[in-house]
Amino acid sequence: MKIIMLGAPGAGKGTQAKRIAAKYGIPHISTGDIFRANIKNGTELGKKAKTYMDEGKLVPDELVVDLVIDRFKEDDCANGYVLDGFPRTIPQAEALDKALEAIGENIDYAIDVAVPDENIIVRMGGRRACVDCGATYHMDHRAPKVDGVCDHCGGKLIIRDDDQPETVEKRLAVYHEQTQPLIDYYTDKNILKTVDGTLKMEDVFTEIVDILGE
Ligand code: AP5
Ligand code: MG
Repeated sequence: MKIIMLGAPGAGKGTQAKRIAAKYGIPHISTGDIFRANIKNGTELGKKAKTYMDEGKLVPDELVVDLVIDRFKEDDCANGYVLDGFPRTIPQAEALDKALEAIGENIDYAIDVAVPDENIIVRMGGRRACVDCGATYHMDHRAPKVDGVCDHCGGKLIIRDDDQPETVEKRLAVYHEQTQPLIDYYTDKNILKTVDGTLKMEDVFTEIVDILGE
């Protein structure tokens, strides 16, 4: 099963993608996580990506497309994958389609996690992420057992650099301009499914399982 997660920054793509990956036994491929791992490790890609991410802008398509296409040729993707944060522009979606067509494959579902802008800013303020394993928390909706410490690995919890309110507003504007057109793109391909991302995390997941099947 090959799935794309769509949705504004903070809509809950990562939260739901991790659950999908666990339930259906497919890898979770998050371009944001890949960039953050590169930044942490000080790679050339990380240095380039950071300048765009810190401003709330998208990383240029040419730094993203090959990275994802190479990733899903790996063995663990034989039964599919859930893409989180990719594609994010029409050129990325076209490049993905072209690469899949070349190997006789296609995306099965594009799931839009729909959340209005006004909910997003509040959500992002409460997000904490583990520097080591990438697990995410929310101070109101899913607080860690010990303040500042990851439940899973004991790593330190931080506020992401791009979660400052001004940067979140910029990311939302970029989303509406460059990523939202993908909703029509996948509607035209008859694979778009929309879930209500304002529900509780568990209830959003129930809607997703209704779409994907048990
Ligand atoms: P990326 O890491 O993908 O960030 P994003 O799209 O802005 O989305 P987020 O990760 O912020 O949010 P999410 O939807 O995953 O929400 P989450 O589950 O964490 O990208 C970062 C940057 O990298 C981009 O700005 C860009 O620069 C670059 N980049 C990445 N991919 C790229 C690409 N393809 N092309 C170009 N550039 C790219 O949830 C958010 C919070 O809400 C959490 O605290 C969570 O616990 C909480 N929460 C989740 N669900 C619920 C719920 N139902 N109710 C209450 N709280 C909830
Ligand atoms: Mg995410």
